[in-house]
Amino acid sequence: MKVIVFEDMHAVDRFVVQRIKEVIESKSCPVIGFATGSTPQGVYNGLIQKYQKGEVSFRQVKAFNLDEYVGLSKDHPRSFAKAMWETLFSKLDIEEENIYALNGVADNMEQECQRYEKLIQENPIDLQLLGIGMDGHIAYNEPGTSFDEGCHVTNLHKESIESSLGYGFDHLEEVPRQGVTQGISTIMQARELIMIAKGEKKAKLVQRMVKGKVSEDFPSSIIQNHNQVLVVLDQEAASHLEEEDYERH
Ligand code: F6R
Repeated sequence: MKVIVFEDMHAVDRFVVQRIKEVIESKSCPVIGFATGSTPQGVYNGLIQKYQKGEVSFRQVKAFNLDEYVGLSKDHPRSFAKAMWETLFSKLDIEEENIYALNGVADNMEQECQRYEKLIQENPIDLQLLGIGMDGHIAYNEPGTSFDEGCHVTNLHKESIESSLGYGFDHLEEVPRQGVTQGISTIMQARELIMIAKGEKKAKLVQRMVKGKVSEDFPSSIIQNHNQVLVVLDQEAASHLEEEDYERH
């Protein structure tokens, strides 16, 4: 695992944008996994700018979302699919039919999970972006989830429900209690992972993810076992690591 630390979040964003561009340019049909949440928004703005300047095209890109709230359709203003559409996909030249997401209002969620898992097997993800949740989750793999799980429905933990207030919900009662998510085993099959963390509030979590025991109690620790993973941090998020734990860029 390689950990790199930048002076500030803008430098983090620039680095990740550049890496995504390289992956897109190195493949005839690149498959990118996108995360929602606050952390990657600067990266998405950077990708939009690059596209607008004609420096990158998403015409051949297939995009897979990580997770969704159970009970929210892709057109619901608070769904992750809608957030990805509004903050990124609608502003790029990506073909709509190449955007894939879990359907939070499927009649049969088990079948929906199998459908998505199969789609990902058929379109292996070249680069998966990740963020770390306040309980150590990646995607909506909450603490205690088996590392062997594929796509599945999950009960959201308190920290995840509370963090959702930052995603436009006005009251905790409005936040769905369940999510549907790529599993750890799904995520670990991606060829490359980029985990981004920013800010002091992620510092202790980052320390445990990078240096703690790999354990289902702290799902993001699994990335230590991936053979192509970059952890990209700003100085604040790295503040609980030792200097020998990372490269400074
Ligand atoms: C989002 C996702 C989550 C977030 C994590 C961090 O699709 O899967 O794991 O990456 O909760 O969220 P932020 O970036 O809002 O701190």
